[in-house]
Amino acid sequence: MYKVYSNASWKGIIPLLFLIISISTANAQSITIPVETKDNALVLQVSPEKYLNTVYFGKRLSDKNEYNATAKAFRLDGNTEGYNSAYTTAGSRNLLEPAIAVTHADGNQSLDLKYVSHLVTRINDDVSLLSIRLKDSVYDFEVTLNYQTYFNEDVTEQWSVITHHEKHDVTLRKYASANLYLQAGSYWLKHFHGDWAQEMRPEEEQLDHGIKTLDSKLGSRADLFEPPVFMVSLNKPSGEDDGEVLYGNMEWSGNYRMDFEVDPSNNLRLIAGINNYASAYVLKPGVEFTTPKFVYTLSNKGKGEASRNLQSWARKYKIVDGEGPRLTLLNNWESTFFDFDEHKLADILKDTKTLGVDLFLLDDGWFGNKYSRNGDHQGLGDWQENKAKLPDNIAFLTKAASGDGVKFGIWVEPEMVNPKSELYEKHPDWVVKQPQRPEYYMRNQLVLDLSNPKVQDFVFNVVDNLFVKNPDLAYIKWDCNSVIYNAHSAYEKEQSNFYTDYVFGLYKVLDRLRAKYPKVPMMLCSGGGGRVDYGALKYFTEYWPSDNTEPLERIFIQWEYSYFYPALASSNHVTNWGKEPIKFRVDVAMMGKLGFDIVVGKLKPDELEFCQDAVKTYKEFSEAIWHGDQYRLQDPMENDVASIMYVDTTKTNAIMFNYLVNNRYAAGSKLPIKLKGLNPDKNYAISEVNLFPGTQSSITNAIYSGKFLMTVGINPDVKDGRTSVLIGVKEQK
Ligand code: DGJ
Repeated sequence: MYKVYSNASWKGIIPLLFLIISISTANAQSITIPVETKDNALVLQVSPEKYLNTVYFGKRLSDKNEYNATAKAFRLDGNTEGYNSAYTTAGSRNLLEPAIAVTHADGNQSLDLKYVSHLVTRINDDVSLLSIRLKDSVYDFEVTLNYQTYFNEDVTEQWSVITHHEKHDVTLRKYASANLYLQAGSYWLKHFHGDWAQEMRPEEEQLDHGIKTLDSKLGSRADLFEPPVFMVSLNKPSGEDDGEVLYGNMEWSGNYRMDFEVDPSNNLRLIAGINNYASAYVLKPGVEFTTPKFVYTLSNKGKGEASRNLQSWARKYKIVDGEGPRLTLLNNWESTFFDFDEHKLADILKDTKTLGVDLFLLDDGWFGNKYSRNGDHQGLGDWQENKAKLPDNIAFLTKAASGDGVKFGIWVEPEMVNPKSELYEKHPDWVVKQPQRPEYYMRNQLVLDLSNPKVQDFVFNVVDNLFVKNPDLAYIKWDCNSVIYNAHSAYEKEQSNFYTDYVFGLYKVLDRLRAKYPKVPMMLCSGGGGRVDYGALKYFTEYWPSDNTEPLERIFIQWEYSYFYPALASSNHVTNWGKEPIKFRVDVAMMGKLGFDIVVGKLKPDELEFCQDAVKTYKEFSEAIWHGDQYRLQDPMENDVASIMYVDTTKTNAIMFNYLVNNRYAAGSKLPIKLKGLNPDKNYAISEVNLFPGTQSSITNAIYSGKFLMTVGINPDVKDGRTSVLIGVKEQK
């Protein structure tokens, strides 16, 4: 029997839905709920006692009725202790790591959630939302589990909505977004660690019994040490094109926690959500707490397919303007640091034009008067143009930019403040700090308290005023250079709500900005990659992977990010870090969203000519790089030569990037490298592109079938003296 669900809490979402597919209430004994995507199924089942359990997560079956047999096949049917609970509660019969733990209004710490009903709604041909309502039988406390599937991309986003109608506040001691359950012979977790300039260093390990936790407690710049992404391979570490692997990303720009627990039955329990560290959340009666989303994709064809699933989902549904173009740019951070004035900038604007890129990006140092921002020790928070550097204001620069036929963008770090600033003097209560303890700084600065609506207004206005005063402003770089020390809010009544409310406050500001400026390109920067996650990328067009732009380092850093994020979102700037020649530096930056941060005037004539040509070549292949499919061909961790390629969606145009990553004697490409993603029946013309003026390619232009290129491959002839080689692959009709 299907019946329309009538709880008031559903009302908000119903207008958004195109079609309600099925609604179920009674007869819990027979309820099996498959959450299907193109290749996979996550199957939930209601037990006779009305507990909601996961009974299968793997390849989709063609006959839905057969999902009823999975619990028995995996011996999950007799488990009454809830190891495979779809949302494990604390304080009742489960004794393993919980997804949710609460203290009720009367001080009782038990929770026992049972299935009430579920609703499947089809949002469009690709996207469906399953919502399952669970309720405690003793307390007026409930949780709705949400599973939003992206069928063609094989991606699912999961989150929970928690609410209660108890007499007083309830404290949520843990409130995860998702609780998955996987069955395999062994589990191999690949995760990443890092620090400033060392982002995304991979580690892969076999999970044994007990709990492995990935988490962050850094508050604002939360991903610095451990980004919220991982992959778990089942049975063996998966390869690029083989093996079963689950990718996950916690869509949260603050403290997160992901627990991986191999349970007594040798199954893997995965719980992902906001970190409950110092963050027990006090929830008022009748208020809904919506957790952030946890996004995942499962592939049975290895890491490459999982990446392409996530990348195409991100372009289509998550990143701002993910299917649109990107602006190439010239940034002045490394070429001037804080030392510039409007004349120097006017010259750089001319260089922007000379180089042939789309936009000039003015970095840090343009503001502050009482405390001029001539270094990183003062001025942050005082967002007025510095009169000595910019006597004619930003308007002078936007005007000069349009005279030169380029666009203009600007750097901000609106969440932060230097103690030496007028903002701090006026509003010390807006600053995150312990009232009775000495201040402690990262990069001489402190974090503003975004849980306070007045601070949210201030931050919104900083950016909004820039656009209002300068309607031609075409780009924002949003930085965030400090973690949160001494977490304390002068605004919050419940201090333990602070870490969570900080991020909600940030998202409120970004929501307001995006409502007013839906498409303006914004770079998500955090002193490097300290804040790269899909919760933040929902508001940004691109991210800054690392301040480390040494190109050899960047090959590795960009490679690891590429597992989770699409290339068009990776801001890659050519700088003077390292000793590699300009060709190598440009070739590496071209693997994502190309930018420069060099003194154009110091380039030799042939270097300038090379850069100008490279910008044109980049535009020629940008459709493949930005919106095409990415194939990792040779891993820099395992080979002398790293190789990666991008193929446009029509399989007519592709580009292959190859780099020497080992400088031992005679290192190079010894064998042909097999291409991927082409049409075997098409013919393709192969030629080396991005040649430095005056050099000859050792690769003969030729035409090969897609079949040949993917079976035999081509040797890019990478070696000492040819350390980076780009090969264009174009369909020949
Ligand atoms: C850190 C960023 O990562 C750099 O690119 C630059 O914008 C500086 N901040 C400016 O202070």
